[in-house]
Amino acid sequence: MAKIIGCVTTSHVPAIARAIAKGQQEDPYWKEWFDGFKPVHRWLAQARPDVAVIVYNDHGLNFFLDKLPTFAIGAAAEYQSADEGWNIPTVLPFRGDPQLSWHVINSVVAEGFDITMCQEMLVDHALCNPMALLWPGGKEWPVRIVPVEINTVQFPLPSAARCYRLGEALGRAIASYPEDLRVLVMGTGGLSHQLDGERAGFINKAFDQKFMASLTADPTWVTRYSTIELVEQTGSQGIELLLWLTARAALGAGARAITANYHIPISNTAAGMMLLEPAA
Ligand code: DHB
Ligand code: FE
Repeated sequence: MAKIIGCVTTSHVPAIARAIAKGQQEDPYWKEWFDGFKPVHRWLAQARPDVAVIVYNDHGLNFFLDKLPTFAIGAAAEYQSADEGWNIPTVLPFRGDPQLSWHVINSVVAEGFDITMCQEMLVDHALCNPMALLWPGGKEWPVRIVPVEINTVQFPLPSAARCYRLGEALGRAIASYPEDLRVLVMGTGGLSHQLDGERAGFINKAFDQKFMASLTADPTWVTRYSTIELVEQTGSQGIELLLWLTARAALGAGARAITANYHIPISNTAAGMMLLEPAA
């Protein structure tokens, strides 16, 4: 049977791709952020996942405001990256796992989640940058991927409670897949940031740190907040923490942190990263 071996959550700021392209990982601005992934690289070398199920949000590349699903799952054999406007380099295509994708789609639809099924899907910085942070070097990706896309762009957004339940359903879907796969779940985006409007540059360190701590001790803590309250607390793009929450929920009730990093700011974002393992 397939098994979830861990969960990595990380910010996906576009500037990360530019720093990688320019080889700036040792620059003072970037060092602490990139160094935070060294324990993750060591963990990945041991854990050897076959597939990554990646919970992320599209930023106008694959979906736009005219047609915007709440939940979409990729079921393609391959996913290409493209530039949605940040002028960052594309990366090598990702291999999909259509069989696992369809199993996950069938399973979560049966549990009442209405999913947009994508047999063609472009992926943006929110998927590509986390992958490049986990597997640097620009070589062929060592895992197949299943993209799980959640609207965090245009209201109405799914609630934190709904996202938590979707994450639990993803966990059950993966655990019921008959092939012996080692599955890494990823959640991208966040933490607090706001890119536009009066509060551009808004960061809420206290809330971010409470949220990160909650993911081990009390993972449903943030579900007491409405999406509007979460935008107030974290900024209009900080709401991407829903993607962390969904990924975390796939692990089940108990989880322990292997490593974590919180670094203010990268671009406009309070950049966070966590590696979690399911409780034994
Ligand atoms: C930034 C952060 C994001 O999450 C994003 O999608 C785009 C830009 C930023 O801080 O620059
Ligand atoms: Fe984003």
